[in-house]
Amino acid sequence: MLVDLHVHLRGTLVRETVLFLAERNAVSIPEAILADARYGWHDFATFLKAYDLVTSVVKSAADLEVITTSYLKRCAELGGGYVEFMLSPPDLARTGVPFPDQLKALTAAADRAAEEWGVRSRLIATAVRHLGPRAAVEAARMATSIQSDMLVGFGLTGDEHQHEVGEFAEAFNIARGEGLRATAHAGEHRPADTIIEAIELLGLDRVGHGIRAVESPDVMRQLAEARMPLEVCLGSNLALGLYRSVAEHPVGRMVDAGCAIVLGTDDPGFFGTDLAREHALALEADPRLGIEAVSTNAIAAAFCDEHTKNSLAH
Ligand code: ADE
Ligand code: ZN
Repeated sequence: MLVDLHVHLRGTLVRETVLFLAERNAVSIPEAILADARYGWHDFATFLKAYDLVTSVVKSAADLEVITTSYLKRCAELGGGYVEFMLSPPDLARTGVPFPDQLKALTAAADRAAEEWGVRSRLIATAVRHLGPRAAVEAARMATSIQSDMLVGFGLTGDEHQHEVGEFAEAFNIARGEGLRATAHAGEHRPADTIIEAIELLGLDRVGHGIRAVESPDVMRQLAEARMPLEVCLGSNLALGLYRSVAEHPVGRMVDAGCAIVLGTDDPGFFGTDLAREHALALEADPRLGIEAVSTNAIAAAFCDEHTKNSLAH
């Protein structure tokens, strides 16, 4: 059974759905952007801009239900059994969809996917780093304003180069104080020591990416000793040009050091990847990253309750 522990819900949008929602919601995206297979991006900074533009086609709770159902169905077809989505509550709240309505739509999609295709899912509410710490606190307050079995975690996405990670401690304290588990993008674009800083200052249970840990034996040792799950997204790393080939990817060296590796698709609609391909890439990178081993790590690292974990393991 395959598990996706790092996927941005709006990043699952495939071109066909982008076009469908653009028409339905009367959002105009420049022809030149739509005509380009990569929506005009060529590195991380331009990716984030293209991502904001293209994902602005998602406007309503019904849209969220459509994209969640669509991704879970695709996962099930590929042998997927469990998915944790990331979504920032204030994004759609700002355009008139209150977070409880977003959550209702996601829960409806998740319930249907569990029932019809046997794939389970949960939500990680996120703050966007480049929008700053005040917006992060707003995201945390919104996330914790409602009790739901669907919502299991709080995360930090966005541009790692903006702000220092400690500025987000208040938001994470609010979220963790209400029982949400914590993850944050760290060590994808900035050096290894920023991973430890993020873990300590935000109280993380997992790390998004964390691949630059490989640059520091000391950081890798600390991650291995803590059995800190690292959400590795090989297809994303290749698409964004962080490594030229699977052979250059550091995940094998992280396994050597004893790090706990789990997998994610990140933004599969933008990076032309899916859960099956991520597993194939991981296996190509290192034979120790077979489905069994990775799934065992993933279930242990999942933010859902123990009862759900037990049912995933059997
Ligand atoms: N938001 C959406 N996709 C992202 C990514 N790949 N990294 C950081 N923030 C994101
Ligand atoms: Zn990500």
